[in-house]
Amino acid sequence: MHNILVTGGCGFIGANFIRYLFSRNDFTGRVINVDRLTYAGNPENLTDIASAFPDRYRFVKADICDREAMEKTFDANGVDTICHFAAESHVDRSIVGPDDFVRTNILGTFTLLELCRKFSRQIELFHHVSTDEVFGSLGETGHFTEKTPYDPSSPYSASKAASDHLVMAYARTYKIPVTLSNCSNNYGPYQFPEKLIPLMILNGLEGKPLPVYGDGRNIRDWLYVEDHCAAVWRIMQQGRRGECYCIGGRSERTNLQVVHDICNILDEEAPGPESRRKLISFVKDRPGHDLRYAIDCTKLETELGWKPQEHFESGLRKTVRWYLRHPQWVERVRSGEYQKWIETHYAG
Ligand code: NAD
Ligand code: TYD
Repeated sequence: MHNILVTGGCGFIGANFIRYLFSRNDFTGRVINVDRLTYAGNPENLTDIASAFPDRYRFVKADICDREAMEKTFDANGVDTICHFAAESHVDRSIVGPDDFVRTNILGTFTLLELCRKFSRQIELFHHVSTDEVFGSLGETGHFTEKTPYDPSSPYSASKAASDHLVMAYARTYKIPVTLSNCSNNYGPYQFPEKLIPLMILNGLEGKPLPVYGDGRNIRDWLYVEDHCAAVWRIMQQGRRGECYCIGGRSERTNLQVVHDICNILDEEAPGPESRRKLISFVKDRPGHDLRYAIDCTKLETELGWKPQEHFESGLRKTVRWYLRHPQWVERVRSGEYQKWIETHYAG
């Protein structure tokens, strides 16, 4: 694993993963970060990495569905490992416009797998980053495991499910060495403010309404992003080839609990004229809204010795503080300022 192609490395988890790799002594290789720079991709997330590691970090602006561009990238960089994050990732957007989800998540993954087939002599591992949402919704009890049947509810989760199936089929049919991980909801620095936690932090700061879907009783199993990155790296290094691993934080919270926690932290860290809880507004529910996600990550814990390091309360406080301390990042991401910067820097 010397020349690692990271796809979607300018997004939330991909950028954290690249930062994580370069913080480790056991990573001595190179990263080739391929990202199309959609609204969710921000190369500024890695400016410091690019200048600190000019020989070991390379950015390529390309679409994973563009077979020619991807083939050139595999060839020119001697890619031997792929860690595949690139995706359209927001459920609400997938409900309004599923096209890009089918294209990037399914066709994009297919394109990469085809190239693994073509370059099979040099490929050591294709790691596919997926979600627990492929399993659909749990009721009040039970947990997802690696044996849970797929039952996706949204165009997003259906497209991720399709990509997972392609990955496992390529492993069986063409003997591509793969690992696959299905992770629960992440939170932490650099998350685009359309997802629950950063949206609530920024709206709360600005005194805007905090839109909670339905009755706020839906449950997610939250994991700090760095714990996810550590799990992915552990699986890439030690995971059994051809296997799936569930990753989760054992940290179930209702959405309302999460929003209340954010309000409390904001009231302490950035006191406003009145308690942020007054901003909570219950809005129309998301269609097909999954009730509950919860991961049983025993396989990852017992086989590979991984455990989450961060507690939800401390991780959430760290996250709120990160957004408070990076107003410029927030401003540029929200105003589309960095998109203009992309257009001038990466024309074409
Ligand atoms: P994100 O939306 O923040 O980032 C996605 C990145 O992919 C962006 O940089 C974007 O520019 C890039 N991209 C999109 N389409 C592309 C294309 N056609 N070609 C090249 N690059 C493209 O997403 P994220 O939250 O960082 O999620 C990363 C991965 O992790 C996804 O595969 C997602 O399904 C999975 N995942 C996310 C979570 C979560 O809570 N965010 C949980 C489990 C799994
Ligand atoms: P989200 O961050 O979009 O992640 P996912 O849908 O992939 O789990 O949403 C997390 C939960 O928060 C989900 O149950 C939907 C809910 N939610 C709200 O109540 N209000 C919001 O404004 C958003 C974005 C999400």
